[in-house]
Formats: sequence, structure tokens, C-alpha cells
Amino acid sequence: MQVVALDSQVSSYDKRSSLPRQPSVAEEAARPFLKWVGGKGKLLDQLLVHIPRGPLRYGEAFVGGGAVYFALRSERRLASALLTDLSGDVVNAHSTVRDRPRELVAALRAHEDAYLNTDETGRADYFYRVRAMRPDLLALSPVERAARMVFLNRTCFNGLWRENSRGLFNSPHGRYAQPNIANEARILAASHALQGTEIARADFRRWPELVADHEIDFVYLDPPYQPLSATSSFNAYSGGTFSPAAQRELADVCGQLDRMGVRWMLSNSDCPFVRDLYARWNIHTIAAPRAINSKADARGNVNEVLVTNRRPGLAW
Ligand SMILES: C[S@@+](CC[C@H](N)C(=O)[O-])C[C@H]1O[C@@H](n2cnc3c(N)ncnc32)[C@H](O)[C@@H]1O
Repeated sequence: MQVVALDSQVSSYDKRSSLPRQPSVAEEAARPFLKWVGGKGKLLDQLLVHIPRGPLRYGEAFVGGGAVYFALRSERRLASALLTDLSGDVVNAHSTVRDRPRELVAALRAHEDAYLNTDETGRADYFYRVRAMRPDLLALSPVERAARMVFLNRTCFNGLWRENSRGLFNSPHGRYAQPNIANEARILAASHALQGTEIARADFRRWPELVADHEIDFVYLDPPYQPLSATSSFNAYSGGTFSPAAQRELADVCGQLDRMGVRWMLSNSDCPFVRDLYARWNIHTIAAPRAINSKADARGNVNEVLVTNRRPGLAW
């Protein structure tokens, strides 16, 4: 299958002058509309320097909030893109923002009105009622499902989108005084930045096949991290935990992509197990703010690794 070229408005260069085009306001502002644990917003400077300049036929295998995608798109480094995630809610939210942003904002305004115009008990009741609207049981429209996700993401504890082993969101209610639920400017900017991009639900194991079908030449992989200790298993994003066996399979997928001549970059926690899995490639150390920790005194920086298969002979 051929990749669909992204909207010519956002190609790297203005075709007439071959000079970088001035960005529009909407593109400039595009950032994740989901608050995401493990989101890469704070690490962009450290990550983007390791990605080829482009224009890239880009793929992202664990898109989550999509911080790296939105940054690359704003910098006009993408010729085309395929974004995937295992979570049906994540995939539906991104496709709805791309295709029906105004309907989504209207649905979020309804949630916002109902939630903000009541007392604390009423807010908690409303949150748990929306949380109980199971997308697997109810015939929610894509817009209703996306609105449910963004609403819960904005009002849940710590903005932590956590799913149980059946793929159901189970974070408790948070206590934000004035959460920005219907963030119209953010959603419209993200929608603009998602035009022309393919978004699909897929397990990471399908990436060698997806790369071949879509002629992708660079893939970013940001899996749930290998926990640093038994008590820090904040990797239950989608359908349960991401086991050490899954981490090994992911390293095998990276090996396959490497043999196919595809360039890639992967993030993970800095631990001997991960360093060992990727020992034959380039491992960079990244200092990341620790986002979630039950003990306030354990917040601070923690190292992560960034692995690339860059090498002489593989154009970067
Ligand atoms: C660390 S987060 C990605 C963060 C993202 N890069 C960002 O900046 O917001 C990991 C993502 O992997 C997804 N995921 C978990 N298991 C997966 C699997 N087997 N295949 C594909 N995606 C998976 C989760 O749904 C989650 O969105």
C-alpha cells in the first residue's frame, strides 16, 4: 500500500521556493490534547536531535498522547505518518480529533457544564457515572467515546489513564478546581496537525508488516517502561502490564526493522535488563523528570535510555 502524502501545506518545503515555509498559528501550537503518563513533552529537546531531519515517512508504534508526533509535525519534518496504539480509546480519540473536532468540542462542553456546575460530591458522582459508560458495552458513537476519554483524562487522579486487564479505564476521580475540559484551541490545533495522518489500532508486533505495507522509513517506539522495581509498575496502560517477555519481543521487532534497513528510535527505563536487550545498538542516557510517584520525596530526575540503530551506512 502506498503512503498517503500529508497535506502539501505541511510538507517540509514550499514547492515553489524550496525554502522552509512559515508555520501557521494552528500548526505552531499543536501539542497533545491528552495528558499522558510517560508523555514525552518535557523530553522533546533531548529526543528530537536523535531523529533524522526528514522529510520522513514516519511511524509511531505506541502513540499515547503523541508528543513526539506533534513536535515533528510542527517542525515540518514529516512527509507521511502512521500512528498506532493498542488502546482502542487512544486510537478513537486521535481519529475523532482529526475528523470531527468541532463535534468533539461540543460534546466536551456538555461534560464541562455538567461537571463544573455542581459541588464536590456532584462532581465525583458525575465522574464515576461517565467512567461506568463502558465503550465495550454501550453503543457510544466515536465522538461520545472520545469525549468520555478526554473528560476522564482531564478530571481523573493525576491525569493517569490506566486500564485494567480487560482494557477498562479504572483511575479514580481527581480534585482539580477548574480543569480545562473543552480545550477548543488545543483540539483544533491538534486536528489540523493530524490531517493526512493514518491512525490505527495495532499491537507493536505488527510493525515489521506495517513498515513494509506503508513504506515507512523511520519508527519511534515508546513502550510502557520496564519497571525499575517491583513497586514502580506504572506500566499498566493498556490491557494489563507489559511483561519482560513483551519487552524481549519488542527488542526482536527492533532487530527485524534493523534488518529491513528501517531507522528507529526507542525509549525505555534505564535498567540492566533494557541495556542488555539493546546492547548491540546505540544507547543514550536521558535525564527525565519523574512524573508519578506516591512518595513526594521520591520525585526528581530519573534516567531513561534512548536507543537508536544509527550506524555508518544507514543514512540518518
Ligand atoms: C509510554 S506510553 C506512550 C507515551 C507517548 N509516546 C506519549 O508521548 O504520550 C505507552 C503506550 O503504549 C500502548 N501499548 C501498551 N501495550 C501495547 C502493545 N502491546 N502494542 C501497542 N501499544 C501498546 C499504551 O496504550 C500506551 O498508549
